[in-house]
Amino acid sequence: MAKKTQATWGGRFQSGPAALMLKFSESASFDRRLAPFDVAGSKAHSAMLARIGLLTARERDAIHAGLDRILAEIEEGTFTWDERLEDVHMNIEHALTLRVPAAAKLHTARSRNDQVATDMRLFFRHACAVLAEKVKNAQSSLLSAAAAGRSVLIPGYTHLQRAQPVFAAHHVFAWMEMLERDRARFLEVAEKANECPLGSGAIAGTTLSIDREYVAKLLGFVDKKGRARVTQNSMDAVADRDTHIEFASACALFGVHISRIAEDLILWSSAEFKFVSLPDEFCTGSSLMPQKKNPDSCELLRGKSARLQGNLHTLLTLVKGLPMTYNRDLQEDKSPVFDSFDQASVCADVLAATVKGLSFIADRCAAAASDPALLATDLADYLVDRGVPFRAAHHAVGAVVALAEKRGCPIPELPTDAVQRIHAGFGEDWAKVFDLGRALAMRKGTGMPGPGQLSRQFARWKKILGVRG
Ligand code: ARG
Repeated sequence: MAKKTQATWGGRFQSGPAALMLKFSESASFDRRLAPFDVAGSKAHSAMLARIGLLTARERDAIHAGLDRILAEIEEGTFTWDERLEDVHMNIEHALTLRVPAAAKLHTARSRNDQVATDMRLFFRHACAVLAEKVKNAQSSLLSAAAAGRSVLIPGYTHLQRAQPVFAAHHVFAWMEMLERDRARFLEVAEKANECPLGSGAIAGTTLSIDREYVAKLLGFVDKKGRARVTQNSMDAVADRDTHIEFASACALFGVHISRIAEDLILWSSAEFKFVSLPDEFCTGSSLMPQKKNPDSCELLRGKSARLQGNLHTLLTLVKGLPMTYNRDLQEDKSPVFDSFDQASVCADVLAATVKGLSFIADRCAAAASDPALLATDLADYLVDRGVPFRAAHHAVGAVVALAEKRGCPIPELPTDAVQRIHAGFGEDWAKVFDLGRALAMRKGTGMPGPGQLSRQFARWKKILGVRG
């Protein structure tokens, strides 16, 4: 039989956990990164215990000083972690109790169930703020890429077939919109996390007269008016993992967005497109083929999105069949959350750095954008302007395109009389439609790719991102 080893809950046990069980069940190896939040929670909790008379001011101060010292040691890497103490909560409490006898009172009116729920909410507030900032940084890099593509025309695509010409900056701004939604989403998740579960105890609160609102305020769980925000059901508070799922979901969707951006860049940097050249620093070569320059950072951004989706799926599956309330399964909630945070963070950084060094290959873009077929829709609009119903105009232009294909010449080089035989609505000036400058200048409405709108969008993004100049 293993020796009795568990001081914290070992009272009713004849035997301590087997070595295999310790190894299997410990979480300190990965939840230790919650230490700053655990210490903050314990400081607020002990301040409250002093306020209601369950700790003296002196005991509270000793606990606070001890917690600060332990956190400093953890941050320096000198703290000794013990897997027999299972998790970050018990490691800290145990070390504190050895140094500060009053710490034996710290766990009054608290369970690890409401403690870990609180730690995670504090973590989400921090992680969401970090990610929102990193996404903003990536957007600033995209703004530089947009500036580089301000007067570069490229084809926009649907079905990966050339559709209509746009300024490269307009395409980059499409990416920026996706990231702007991600940024807002991270801030919304931070707001979802903004409720204090402490005081819920293991499941049914406590018989002691605690002050939950005081703790919530100390930890910054407050509304805009500074009023405490506390969870409203002690069972839900310890069972709920919605914020974990919403956080992982926000990361997964961010991953989907960066994957789509990465895919555009992979295509654009291929010899077939050759619209952009990616920075050497974020590409690699081939060990066999000397000519290769592979867009590895983009491929990895695309690949990481699978992992971010996987983490979301892990969490959804983890929670789905669990009976109320806390179950030990829930300890498995941390690794996917931390991984999503770490991977989303590094992806934001890599995206920022990759697009910062992006340059457009002007002649290749110009050659692709000058395909007159891209303005076939404009030719239909030309007929509409002259009173032709759009469906008839669409049909007539289709016939013009077919004729050009048959004759093997660019559309604007078709003889006017041949075009007029297709539809009498075509005037002598029909071919002016194929002037790209004119075509873009006419796209004036909000959200369209014309140069006037583009200037508006540059100003808008500079304002949103706080970029001067
Ligand atoms: N390490 C545990 C977890 O993350 C903390 C909560 C433990 N609670 C319990 N009743 N064993 O889930």
